[in-house]
This record gives sequence, structure tokens and C-alpha cells, in this order.
Amino acid sequence: MGKVAVITGGARGIGAATATLFAQNGAHVIIADILDELGATLADSIGGRYIHCDVAKEDNVESVIQLALTWKGQLDIMLNNAGIPGPGGSIANLDMERVMNVLSVNVNGVLHGIKHAARAMIHSGKGGSIICMSSSAAIMGGLGGHAYSLSKEAIIGLTRTSACELGVHAIRVNSISPHGVPSEMLVSAYRKFLGDVSPEDVSKIVGERGSLLRGRGASAQDVAQAALFLASDETGYITAHNLVVDGGYTSACNTMSFIYQ
Ligand SMILES: NC(=O)c1ccc[n+]([C@@H]2O[C@H](COP(=O)([O-])OP(=O)(O)OC[C@H]3O[C@@H](n4cnc5c(N)ncnc54)[C@H](O)[C@@H]3O)[C@@H](O)[C@H]2O)c1
Repeated sequence: MGKVAVITGGARGIGAATATLFAQNGAHVIIADILDELGATLADSIGGRYIHCDVAKEDNVESVIQLALTWKGQLDIMLNNAGIPGPGGSIANLDMERVMNVLSVNVNGVLHGIKHAARAMIHSGKGGSIICMSSSAAIMGGLGGHAYSLSKEAIIGLTRTSACELGVHAIRVNSISPHGVPSEMLVSAYRKFLGDVSPEDVSKIVGERGSLLRGRGASAQDVAQAALFLASDETGYITAHNLVVDGGYTSACNTMSFIYQ
């Protein structure tokens, strides 16, 4: 496709799968992360670039966009994917400093990404696709901690207001809400409660209990394909949309599926 894409949090997990898929489809990819070794190795292997970037810091994100402009003279796709899980526990005991930390990465990080990508895309006059990583935890209660769910719901709101403003510049802004991808983030969360589980164990649990597609859990590839879809010109009429990649889990409850027998 010859497009230039920035992926925050692209060193591993969903971001890494998307960086690889974008590169396989002909995109020039910039990985922006805080995991320098992983990010740089992946960027080398896909003919892309790596830059250290803490998305909570606006000047770091601005530098990433500058790199896209100096490297290839344009920015076509911005995937605001970097995120952290945040604290668990009761709302009655929430540590507000930890809440603020989650919001600074998950919400401010996305806001910085939209802001600086929008500046570059407006200036080019060629439009673009901005994609923000939300979560099933934004849609249904009980799938993430309070602070994490708050941050992911905020991302959907911000996606919609940005789409509303930027559509006039042919810039599309969409979000993706994945569920149950056995990444480092999810597997370590499961380990806190279930002991030493593997990614395969997590995938099996999600497939059995967190999906309408019995036995079929999510993979990072599933989300990468959704991002490729939203990044492509074929989805040129889709904006302000939240694409839920959850095996139907948050849309239907199958405890009464006997009524269909
Ligand atoms: N795994 C799931 O099931 C799932 C479900 C819903 C949403 N998500 C979202 O998908 C995104 C990717 O998560 P993942 O599951 O691949 O987890 P992951 O932990 O493997 O990947 C997160 C990436 O973000 C990077 N990151 C963290 N803080 C950063 C910061 N301040 N600046 C720059 N990079 C930073 C990490 O270094 C890592 O590379 C996150 O936004 C997450 O909330 C994941």
C-alpha cells in the first residue's frame, strides 16, 4: 500500500502483530514504544523504524510524528495502541495516584496521538486513518478494573468527537475494542489470580467462557486484521465507529441458548 503508519505500543502483543501485518501489506511502519530492544529488533525485521516514545509525554509523541514526516514525508495511518492495565481492587480503596497514571498513558497517550497525527494529516491535505485501541472493558462492566474501564470508555468518546471534527479533512477516526487476546498484559493479569497459566491456557479459558464461538479464543492476529481493515482505503466510508473484536461476547449472553433448540 506504500502508506506510512505509526504504531504506539508496537514492540509486542497486538501492536507487534499489527506492525508485521501492515509491513506485509506494503506499509512503512514506525514502532513507538518504551521497550527499546524488542521494538528496535521488530522494526529492523520488517524494514521499519523504531523510536523510543512514552505516550504519556506529549513531546515524545510529537517527535514520533516528526520522524514519519522526515523519513517518508507523510503520515497516513496512526494506531494509538499503547496501553497499560492499571490497578485492580475495590473502588472504595482506589489509589488515585495509580488511577492518574493509567489515565496519563491510556487516555492522554491516545489524545496526544490524535492531536499530532491530525496536525500532520490536516497539513498534508490528503486525509488519513486514525485508529485508537479501546477494549471490551469499555462496553461491559466486569471485564477490567475501574480505572482501566474508565480509560477505555473515554477513548471511544474521544474517537467520536475527533471523527466529528476531522471528517471535513477526510481524516477517519475509529476505535477497536478487542477482548481476550493472550498478550503479556492479559496473561500476567490472569497469573495474579490463577497462578502460573500459559498464553495457551488463557486462550482456552477465553474460548470456553468469553466467546460465543465456543472454543475459539482471540489472537493478536484477529485484532491486527481489524486494524488493517480500518486502515485501508476500502473502509473509506467508515468513521466514528467502534469495531468490537470479541467473538460476540459483549453482544449476547448464551446462558438461555436452549430457547433456540
Ligand atoms: N489483550 C487483550 O485482550 C486486550 C483487550 C482489550 C484491549 N487491549 C488493548 O490493546 C492494546 C495492546 O495491548 P496488548 O494486549 O498487546 O498488551 P501488551 O502489554 O503486550 O502491549 C502493550 C504495549 O504498549 C507499550 N506501552 C505501555 N506503556 C507505554 C507508554 N507509556 N508509551 C509507549 N508504549 C507503552 C508496551 O511496552 C507494550 O509494547 C492496549 O491498549 C490494551 O489495553 C488488549
